Amino acid sequence: MPPAASLRPHPLLERLRRRWLGPLFDRLGYDLVPAVPDWTHRPLSRRETEALIAAAAARLDADLAACGLSLPGGTGPAVAAFWDLIGGAPVAQRRGGNGFNGALQLYVLMRALQPRVVIESGVFRGLTTWITRQACPEAEILCFDPDLSGLRYRDARARYHARDWWSCDLHGLDLSQGVAFFDDHISQARRVLEARERGLTRLIFDDDAAAHRLHAHGGPAFPTIAMLMDPAGGTEPVRWRRNGREFVYRPDGEEARTARAAIATAHAFDDLHAATGYSPARITYVALAPPASGDPT
Ligand SMILES: C[S@@+](CC[C@H](N)C(=O)[O-])C[C@H]1O[C@@H](n2cnc3c(N)ncnc32)[C@H](O)[C@@H]1O
Repeated sequence: MPPAASLRPHPLLERLRRRWLGPLFDRLGYDLVPAVPDWTHRPLSRRETEALIAAAAARLDADLAACGLSLPGGTGPAVAAFWDLIGGAPVAQRRGGNGFNGALQLYVLMRALQPRVVIESGVFRGLTTWITRQACPEAEILCFDPDLSGLRYRDARARYHARDWWSCDLHGLDLSQGVAFFDDHISQARRVLEARERGLTRLIFDDDAAAHRLHAHGGPAFPTIAMLMDPAGGTEPVRWRRNGREFVYRPDGEEARTARAAIATAHAFDDLHAATGYSPARITYVALAPPASGDPT
């Protein structure tokens, strides 16, 4: 599907940016670039399109298998369906949210998991809500983000809450068949423990990065799942600098220990860059140990 006309930069604005605004921002130390999503750039010839779809499907098949999941007939048909869908996405974003690869992984995971209820924490413009709706047309979707002012896609059947999911009363909602997608820049250990407390066992995290890669991420949430599960993690503090600010994480805390113990399996998906050429994704699937009978939910 060709990109919607609204996703192309306006020719007049583009000329203004190149001639005047771009050089001015450059002198001030900023990049001014059009908010064109990465999927507007794509192969047009059949052989290359098929190669991209096959390469992505091969990696996604292996990732789903590592999670104990699958799609009937493999992920090939889902990747092909996504390829046709994404050109019509109602949200154009270049930064601040998922691009092609992360959106594709979310789509395939949601199709494999088929949740009845989806908790989405970290909505931003709404791209990932739209992806979830395409994958699960019947799901009840609950969206949480303290700042919903940037929404570009509002799902007609989703419920929106401008607050943290943990401060919302969800009694009466059966989350045992649900899936939570956390893309909210909050400690992933904290989200694991909150999810367990509410009876969720199937979690998807964005922005999962190993400790030695965290410096490259904007607004890092830590500890990440990779930091929690690092067998060589030790007890030494982890330190890094980003945008002139120093961060430190001490891995021996109670929260990290309890969250680690709650995780049955965690699998970081291939970043898909080698398969598709698009920006690397950072999606991880986490399965929690089922609650023991008698545990509060
Ligand atoms: C990376 S963006 C989400 C991007 C979106 N999922 C996508 O891929 O298009 C992170 C969002 O988390 C939101 N956020 C910050 N604190 C939060 C919280 N406590 N609960 C839920 N969302 C939060 C921010 O307002 C921001 O919109």
